[in-house]
Amino acid sequence: MKSTLFDDIPHQVEVVEVGPRDGLQNEKSLLSVNQKIDLINQLSDCGFSHIESGSFVSAQWVPQMSSSADVMRGINKFDNIVYSALTPNLKGYHDAINASTKQVAIFASASQTFSQKNINCSIEESLVRFEDVVQQAVSDNIPVRAYVSCVLGCPYEGTIDKQAVLDLSLRLLEMGCYEVSLGDTIGVGTPLNTNKLLNLLLSRISATHLALHCHDTYGQALANVLVGLQQGISSFDSSVAGLGGCPYAAGASGNLASEDLIYMLHEMGVTTGVNLTRLINVGKNISEILQRPNQSKTGKALAEGKL
Ligand code: HMG
Ligand code: MG
Repeated sequence: MKSTLFDDIPHQVEVVEVGPRDGLQNEKSLLSVNQKIDLINQLSDCGFSHIESGSFVSAQWVPQMSSSADVMRGINKFDNIVYSALTPNLKGYHDAINASTKQVAIFASASQTFSQKNINCSIEESLVRFEDVVQQAVSDNIPVRAYVSCVLGCPYEGTIDKQAVLDLSLRLLEMGCYEVSLGDTIGVGTPLNTNKLLNLLLSRISATHLALHCHDTYGQALANVLVGLQQGISSFDSSVAGLGGCPYAAGASGNLASEDLIYMLHEMGVTTGVNLTRLINVGKNISEILQRPNQSKTGKALAEGKL
């Protein structure tokens, strides 16, 4: 018999640090290439095994990511750390590979309107582009991660059909992606609807092929991660100091802060390989550089010497 609600949660999880991409893509201040390289190098020193480091998208659409090639070339790369980048199409994929990127991510949306606003094409059209990217990546031996955005709500369409999330996730996995990261792009999800969504997805997809990517607009992200853990998910995305948002989702705040996620996991006995003390310093530094408040509660508490 289970003694607690937490007996069966994974003992070890991978935290994908998305601050240098999802975080910085929506910050008003533009960082220099060297500042971005410093940030990623510092995150490597924290012990993350996967850092999403840039995005090979149109500079007209997301100017903050226009230096991704120089960033990817300039960072110190360690064999045990994945430095990935977003690639919306074959052009982005080739640019990423030319900049010595060794893993890429494609990003689809469960909402037709969001797909149009974010990548200027319908969901079906995007799948045709992604198929090209994945085929090329498979032949180059490059792993591909996939995102599905708006899984718990869309800024334009509101409620999203859970079956559409399942169908899209299955298509992306069948294409050859190793994992689908479920994006609560505007952070509207609650533990109840996260649980309902995962119940449906896990009826067809193994937990080892799913990740959660929670934005924290309504303060629900950690609660939703806990539901994911209880459902056996062991891959979670977060950004240092809770940086960022999404340029094509008005009102979306940053991702769940990595410091808050790591604190919760470690205090629950779940290992991540991340050194929280170092991470607190990185969050403090980047918040100062960007001249914005640190969005991590743990970051603020520990930086002020509380506990
Ligand atoms: P488009 O305008 O439809 O592209 O944009 P196009 O094929 O018509 O080409 C127009 C011009 O863009 C051409 O240049 C292309 O070469 C160029 P021109 O001939 O006019 O000089 N172009 C590119 N340039 C650089 N990199 C490329 C590229 N492709 C074409 N890869 C496109 C289509 C997808 C490029 C555009 O809509 C775009 O860049 N969108 C990116 C939007 C984005 O990055 N959004 C944020 C990431 S998604 C997100 O944050 C959600 C997530 O975090 C999960 C969650 O929270 O849910 C992942
Ligand atoms: Mg996001």
